[in-house]
Amino acid sequence: MAELGARHLTLVSRSGRPAPEAAELLAGLAEEAEVDIVRADLGRTEDVARLVRHIEAGPRPLGGIVHAAGGSYDERLISELTWESIEDQLEAKAYGGWLLHEATEKAFPDLEFFVVYSSVSSVLGGFVAQGHYAAGNAALDGLADWRARRGLPGLALNWSSWSRVGMSSRMNDVLIQELKRGGVHLFSPTRALNTLVGLWDQPRGQRVVGDFDWDRYMAGRVTGDLFFDRLARRAAEDDGGLDVAALAALSPADRAAAVTAVVREKVAAVLHLEEGDELDPNTEFVSLGLDSLMAQQVRSGLEQAFRLPLPASLTHDHPTVRQLAGFLGERIGPAPAA
Ligand SMILES: NC(=O)c1ccc[n+]([C@@H]2O[C@H](COP(=O)([O-])OP(=O)(O)OC[C@H]3O[C@@H](n4cnc5c(N)ncnc54)[C@H](OP(=O)(O)O)[C@@H]3O)[C@@H](O)[C@H]2O)c1
Repeated sequence: MAELGARHLTLVSRSGRPAPEAAELLAGLAEEAEVDIVRADLGRTEDVARLVRHIEAGPRPLGGIVHAAGGSYDERLISELTWESIEDQLEAKAYGGWLLHEATEKAFPDLEFFVVYSSVSSVLGGFVAQGHYAAGNAALDGLADWRARRGLPGLALNWSSWSRVGMSSRMNDVLIQELKRGGVHLFSPTRALNTLVGLWDQPRGQRVVGDFDWDRYMAGRVTGDLFFDRLARRAAEDDGGLDVAALAALSPADRAAAVTAVVREKVAAVLHLEEGDELDPNTEFVSLGLDSLMAQQVRSGLEQAFRLPLPASLTHDHPTVRQLAGFLGERIGPAPAA
């Protein structure tokens, strides 16, 4: 916020104490902005009213709100949930979000932003022991959407797991490994904050922010996934991927021709060949000048096109256009009948 130009910040939490990893940052922040620390529990009406009165009594109007409260980490299967554990997750998010909305709507009608830190758990599903956490985040998503529909600022950020700081740094190793196996990569705080800066001029909407390996994510699912079908697959198709299902349905000869054309195109692009330059399908890549860096560029171009994880040794193991196309053709469709 300070980097974006904020000079007056009111930081709110129940304890009034920064998390250990934030203490140094907070000390540095005081050099850039006037920092007011207020203790309040966002889940309590009287605390939120007191907070709003405190800001109203101050010398400046409120420019906007970032609701980033929450994050108590509690893993429980649905059968293990108690009302207490559910309340604990809803308190800061569902109640806190609503109370902040209610208390500030009249007091500060000219807010420029109302950003809520939600989580991918409310859109991706699949976090089996986080149903109550997902519910709290879904409430925040709904609040941002509801505000936006009424013309008020409301932006929900469904963060994926951050690395190094915050609640995900307190996750146990088993869960971290489970996330990684499921195609969810940890997102660095710097990358997350750069993304936030990029979204700053969009005061309304909902954004899922994270680093996902969708092939891996889908590989672990037997039931399909609505979010993937509606949004991620569409985005993947837009970024140059092929319709792999349509390719697989072609006859072996047509499929081989189509795959060969893509391989030629990717190799030619990396070698900076001009249109019309001959690319012999049987000439070895090394003799065409394909070095190891270029080999990785070919591989990632093909991974993106076919949406397949491919080995680092791809062009080494299949060193000509013909051999590489043959290998890829077999990966995406049934082998031709002998
Ligand atoms: N870090 C991630 O990877 C990640 C991923 C997805 C979503 N998120 C979301 O992003 C937000 C920030 O996460 P984080 O990692 O920074 O969590 P964090 O390190 O646990 O910090 C959460 C902050 O919220 C405050 N808080 C909790 N309940 C509160 C309440 N009822 N009223 C006022 N303040 C309250 C806590 O302070 P006190 O305990 O002193 O009140 C703490 O300062 C959370 O909403 C989390 O769900 C984080």
